[in-house]
Amino acid sequence: MTDLMEAVTSLAKRRGIAFQSAEIYGGLRSSWDYGPLGVELRRNIRNAWWRANVQLRDDVVGVEAAVITSPKVWQASGHLETFHDPLVECTNCHQRFREDHLQLSANADGIVLCPNCGGAEFTEPKQFNLMLKTFLGPIEDDDAIAYLRPETAQGMFVNFPAIQAVARKKLPFGIAQVGKSFRNEITPGNFIFRTREFEQMEMEFFVEPGTDDEWFAYWVERRMNWYLDLGVSKEKLRLRPHETEELAHYAKAATDVEYEFPFGWQELEGIANRTDFDLNAHQAASGEDLTYFDQEKEERYLPFVIEPAVGVDRALLTFLLDAYRVEEVPTAKGDTDKRTVLGLHRDLAPIKVAVLPLSRNEKLVPEARRVHDLVKPEWITQYDDAGAIGRRYRRQDEVGTPFCVTVDFDSLDDAQVTVRERDSMAQERLPIANLVAYLKDQL
Ligand code: GAP
Repeated sequence: MTDLMEAVTSLAKRRGIAFQSAEIYGGLRSSWDYGPLGVELRRNIRNAWWRANVQLRDDVVGVEAAVITSPKVWQASGHLETFHDPLVECTNCHQRFREDHLQLSANADGIVLCPNCGGAEFTEPKQFNLMLKTFLGPIEDDDAIAYLRPETAQGMFVNFPAIQAVARKKLPFGIAQVGKSFRNEITPGNFIFRTREFEQMEMEFFVEPGTDDEWFAYWVERRMNWYLDLGVSKEKLRLRPHETEELAHYAKAATDVEYEFPFGWQELEGIANRTDFDLNAHQAASGEDLTYFDQEKEERYLPFVIEPAVGVDRALLTFLLDAYRVEEVPTAKGDTDKRTVLGLHRDLAPIKVAVLPLSRNEKLVPEARRVHDLVKPEWITQYDDAGAIGRRYRRQDEVGTPFCVTVDFDSLDDAQVTVRERDSMAQERLPIANLVAYLKDQL
C-alpha cells in the first residue's frame, strides 16, 4: 500500500469513517462498515449527486427499485450470459485472479508472475459470472434462484413506461436511482475501491435516437464538472474513451472519468451510450410494449439511453484521497507544528460546525451549550470540550470540519464567539446573535 493510501485508510479507521466489517471476527475480505462520520460523508455525497442530477433539473425523476429482482430481468438484460470476468488460477498456489488485472502487472518481456507465490504458470482463462446468487423461499432448487442486482440500472429500464406515464415526461428525460449493488468480484481490493457490496448513483437518460451522440457528450462534460465543482484536483482527473473491444455488451460508446489513485489511473465513473439495447431486450422478453409515443412526430419508437454511473464508495475514496494533506503550521510559541487536514468541499464535510468551549469551566459550559443549541438544528455539528483547544482544532481539521466556534470567558461579557475557518485558520470574532446567519452565508 502506498503512503497516501495507508494514511487515508488509517485516518478512516481511527476517526470512524470506514473500517473492516465484523472486525471482532477477523473481518471479511472486501466488506467495510461505515461509522458515524462515514455515514454523514456518504449522505453528503448522495445529496450532492441528487441535487445536481435531479433536484436542480426539470427533466430527471427518481426511483427506488428492489435489490432482488425477477431473474427474468437478468436473463433479458444479458447479465446472466455475459456479465463475466476472465478468471485464471495459479497452477502452483491455486490462488485465483482476474486475468485482465494480472496482465497489467506484466514485466517488460510480457511475463506475468503470481502476486501470491511468484509462479509463472496459470490455467487458461475461464469466464466467471459476477452475479451474486441466492434462493428465495425455503427450498433451494433451480426455481428458487434469484440474484442480487449487479447494477441499479435495470430498475430504471423495466419501470420506464410506468414512470414515464406517472411523471408525464417527454423525451429527453432521465430516471435516477441511488442504491446498493452486488458483484462477486474475483479480486476486490484497494480499501473501498472495489468491493462485492457497493452503492451506485446511476441515471438512465432517455433520448430520441439520433440525438444520442450529442447527449452523450453533454453528460460526459456535466459529470466531469461535478467533480471539479466539488473541488477534486483537475490534474488528477481525466476522461478516457473506451476502445471498441472493451465496451460492455450493451454499449455503443463509453467514456470513463478516471482519477489518479495512489495505485494508478482508474475508473471513477462510467458514462455509456446504451442505445436501445436494454429496452429492446426487455420488450422482446416480456412481450410488453416499451416504446415511447412522440406526440410531435406522431410516431412510436424505443428511446436511446445515456447512462452516467458512479459508486458512492469509490467517490468517497476519491474525495478522501484528494482532500488529504499534511502541512506545517506556525505555533503560538513561534516554532512550527504539523497538522493533518481533510480539505473537503464544504458540501461534503461530515461535520459542518464544531462548538468548543475554551475549557470545561462551569460558567462557560452553559453558554457553549446554548451556542451549540443554536447551530444544531441547521447542520450536523459536534460539541467537543475534551483536551486543549489546539488539539481540538486539529481533531476537527483532520475530519474536514469547515468551522470551529470557540466560546471563551469574554463571550460571557460581550456575547461574542470566535469563528475559525479550517483552511486559512483565520479567526473572526462575531456576535452570537449573528452566528447562524454568518455560517449560513459561508456554508
Ligand atoms: N450500470 C452501469 C454500470 O454498472 P460499471 O462501470 O460497471 O457500470 C459504474 O459501474 C460505477 O460503479 C463504477 O464506475 C464504479 O464507480 C462503481 N463500481 C462498479 N463496480 C464496483 C465495485 N465492485 N466496487 C465499488 N464500486 C464499483
